Amino acid sequence: MTQAPPSATAQLQAIDITVQLGRRQVLRQVNFTATAGRVTAIVGPNGSGKTTLLRAMTGEVAHSGQVYLNGADTARLSPWELAAVRAVQPQSSTIAFPFTVLEIVRLGLSAGLSAADSHVPLQALEAVGLHGFSGRMYQDLSGGEQQRVQLARVITQVWEPMVDGAPRWLILDEPVASLDIGHQFTVMDLTRNYAARGGGVVAVMHDLNLTAMFADHVVLMQAGAVAATGTPQEVLTDETLARTYSCPVPVNTTPPDKIPFLLPQARRRSSPVST
Ligand SMILES: Nc1ncnc2c1ncn2[C@@H]1O[C@H](COP(=O)(O)OP(=O)(O)OP(=O)(O)O)[C@@H](O)[C@H]1O
Ligand SMILES: [Mg+2]
Repeated sequence: MTQAPPSATAQLQAIDITVQLGRRQVLRQVNFTATAGRVTAIVGPNGSGKTTLLRAMTGEVAHSGQVYLNGADTARLSPWELAAVRAVQPQSSTIAFPFTVLEIVRLGLSAGLSAADSHVPLQALEAVGLHGFSGRMYQDLSGGEQQRVQLARVITQVWEPMVDGAPRWLILDEPVASLDIGHQFTVMDLTRNYAARGGGVVAVMHDLNLTAMFADHVVLMQAGAVAATGTPQEVLTDETLARTYSCPVPVNTTPPDKIPFLLPQARRRSSPVST
C-alpha cells in the first residue's frame, strides 16, 4: 500500500504496527487514527507500549506496518519533509551541553521556520509560561521548567497549525508529567487551542482526569495492543479501567457535559494500626 485514501489527508494513521525489541514483541498489530482538529490522547499502564508506538510512528524504532501523515506514507518522506509537518516531544530529553533556554527553543526554528519567524521562540516561551527565562541556563532549571522549554522548542517547530491548507502535528510523550496543576492546564489549553486552529495533537497521558477534560479521542493501550478507542465517555469506564489498570477506579461524571472524572480510592487497611 503506498497511497492512503483522500479522506486521510488530515489524519495521522498507524496501520498494523508491530514492533519487536530483542526477543519481546512490544507492539502487536496496532491500528489507530488521529484526526486534525482534535486532541487524541494515548493512555495505558506503564510498559503498555505508548512510547514505543510514538517512536514507531515517528520512525525512531524499526517496525512493520505503515504510518500515514496527511495521506502520505511517512516511509517515503525525508527527515526534512517530516520535520516541516510534525514536531515530537520525547518522554525525556537529556541536554549534555551548557545551552541557554533560548538556544534550546531556537533549535525548533531550524527544522521548520525561516529567519522571518525569529520572533516565534519568544512567543513559544510565553505560551508555556516561561516569559523572562530566555537567558537562563537550561541545566539550572527545575524539572518542570525544563519540560516546558522542550515543549516551547516543539511548538516553535510547527508554530502555525495549518500550512497551505494542510494540518501540522504535535506529537507529545507525557507533556504534563512533571508539571504542577496550573501549568498542566496551561499546556493542555495550548494543545486544545492548536487543535481548534486546525492542527493535530497526539499526546501520551497518564492523568485520566486531564484526558477526560481535554481529549476528544482516547486510545487505551494494554500489553502492546489497543484495548479500546473512542471518546473519553466511551473509553474511561469503571469496567475498562479496572480491567486495564488492575485496580478499582470508580468513574463519576460532571453535569451538564457528563465529562468523566475519577476519584481513585485508597485501599483500606484490613486492620487499624495500633500504636
Ligand atoms: N530496547 C528494548 N528492549 C526490550 N524491551 C523494551 C525495549 N524498550 C522498551 N521495551 C519494553 O517495551 C515495553 C513498552 O515500553 P514503552 O516505553 O513503550 O512503555 P510505555 O507505555 O511508554 O510506559 P510508561 O508509561 O512507563 O512510559 C516495556 O515493557 C519495555 O520494558
Ligand atoms: Mg512511555
